[in-house]
Amino acid sequence: MEDKQIAAEASVKYIRDGMIVGLGSGSTVNYMLRKLGERVQQGLQIKGIPTSVKTEKLAKELGIPLTDFSKIQQIDLAIDGADEVDSSLNLLKGGGGSLVREKIVDQAADELIIIADSSKVKSVLGNFPLPVEVVPFGYEKTMEYIAAFGCTPELREKDGRVFISDNGNYILDCKFDLIENPVTLHEQLKSLTGVVETGLFPEMASKVILAREGKVEILSK
Ligand code: A5P
Repeated sequence: MEDKQIAAEASVKYIRDGMIVGLGSGSTVNYMLRKLGERVQQGLQIKGIPTSVKTEKLAKELGIPLTDFSKIQQIDLAIDGADEVDSSLNLLKGGGGSLVREKIVDQAADELIIIADSSKVKSVLGNFPLPVEVVPFGYEKTMEYIAAFGCTPELREKDGRVFISDNGNYILDCKFDLIENPVTLHEQLKSLTGVVETGLFPEMASKVILAREGKVEILSK
């Protein structure tokens, strides 16, 4: 079993009867959804809030009951993946392009657990290009303003076409070498007109469930 799956399955024991659960996005989360689907078939009573159209589709296929923000007061727990995690549990996310919905759900949750293999742990964030979701109109200008912060932004494409997020926006993948201060960089980028959200999730995760060579490790605050 690969480490992503081991970490993902270890997270499911934190899901208890009656919970409203934020369902993240990505290949690690997909393993979590499969295990959660089994638990639901065995009688676990939960409702999930998906963070992407892909997650919503898979959760429905697995028979996981879903809800939405119009019907609930709070999210008890969110479980999500990450592209990079530092030792203070700051996250860089959005490799799959779902960062906006992920951030809305993850920050609304009482607790956020991140699941990952050990390759995602970095001493400093920024080796992975930072995804920034932007409004399509005038994105060329937004790109120039973002580049002034010391990165090389690239418009994300998929299958030869511009990638469109679930929210109808573009994603700029911004290669910084090192992101020494994720809070400040997030605030600076977020203040630019045209930027919808960044893939920096500082100080949001309470726990990271990692798997390294088949063994589970927990990083917590
Ligand atoms: C989706 O937009 C991302 O934030 C994912 O959570 C992240 O890219 C991790 O993906 P994997 O689990 O596929 O590595």
